[in-house]
Amino acid sequence: MTSPTFRSADRTSDLVDRFRARFGGTPRVYRAPGRVNLIGEHTDYNDGFVLPAALALSCWVAAALRDDGRMVVRSEDLGKEYEWDVASTDATPAHSWSDYVQGVALMFGRALGKKRDTGDQDMRGVSILIQSDVPMGAGLSSSAAIEVAVARALIDLAGAPMEPTEVARLCQRAENEFVGARCGIMDQFIACHARLGHALLLDCRSLESRPVSLPSHVRLVACNTMVRHSIASGEYNRRRAECEEGVKELARRLPGLRSLRDLDLAVLDREGRELPDTIRRRCRHVVSENARVDRAARALEEGDLEIVGALMADSHRSLRDDYEVSCAELDLMVGLARETSGVYGARMTGGGFGGCTVNLVDKHAVSEFRRHVVSGYQAKTGRAPDIYVTEAGRGAERVV
Ligand code: GLA
Repeated sequence: MTSPTFRSADRTSDLVDRFRARFGGTPRVYRAPGRVNLIGEHTDYNDGFVLPAALALSCWVAAALRDDGRMVVRSEDLGKEYEWDVASTDATPAHSWSDYVQGVALMFGRALGKKRDTGDQDMRGVSILIQSDVPMGAGLSSSAAIEVAVARALIDLAGAPMEPTEVARLCQRAENEFVGARCGIMDQFIACHARLGHALLLDCRSLESRPVSLPSHVRLVACNTMVRHSIASGEYNRRRAECEEGVKELARRLPGLRSLRDLDLAVLDREGRELPDTIRRRCRHVVSENARVDRAARALEEGDLEIVGALMADSHRSLRDDYEVSCAELDLMVGLARETSGVYGARMTGGGFGGCTVNLVDKHAVSEFRRHVVSGYQAKTGRAPDIYVTEAGRGAERVV
């Protein structure tokens, strides 16, 4: 994996050289970031609230139009290529990284057709070279980074401008309808809208967002358990179905209830007594997590990191016990973080079942934090964890 400290200008010219060597011609270059979510997990697909921030780790895409109606996509990280005809209407997922690209191309082709009122496939062929710093399957949203970087490239090359929120929605559709993961909008939204030095408080129902400044002495540190649970996507969709079941049951007593976002804990306790235990706990996580996001955003704005840390700890417990999406390695990583001084908060981040924790660490405490977490984790699991230290970065952009 290329080091994220690689200077942006070197990075771009390296990518352009690689593109030229493979495809010839001069590409445009785009970048979209991975993310950590500070708090608000599994709330986005429940119309709720989230507080993500972009990482400096990004996916880079070099792209140029071609005349043969083919999409040719090369992953530099995997050394693999994939191609298809832009006009083909019978695309099916290959269950590989290329699905994110093909899904986006498909949704973009549809959007373009509608915009220009010329039917479904009004797109030209494109050569695409992808290289990403965002580790795959680590819960840092490598897939949304690919989707958004590719979407920005296709949109720009087609000369068909789109609002960032529309781009995020298009990428979410690619994932929901083509890749087959029923994810919410958080990852794609932050990849499109992130602001330097800020997290974003996002209302996933209205898609209104507010930047929340992060204190400059705090670093965002993601610790990778190096565990990738293969059950993750099945369990993810199952959690989503359990929430829907909860809403359906609760709506018998609360007519008109649309989503868990519309409940508070007192109402859930009162009206949810007859829910099956698992469903009640899933609902309790989502309802309590939404309240935590609101409080955490306010505490961050007031500079009260102690409260933010306490809320992150509650969030982790709730994800572990009520939502059951943590795992032993994530719990261990969070435990190790809490043993270090200068750590304001630690919890699992993203979908769960492995992947990363997110930690708010004082910049002077980062080295000691890294040392303690790496040695403690290695001693218990035999695995060396990757640690990524960053500040909140910018959203997707055309680089050259
Ligand atoms: C994954 C999904 C997001 C969100 C998180 C959990 O990252 O892509 O939409 O649901 O899990 O908060």
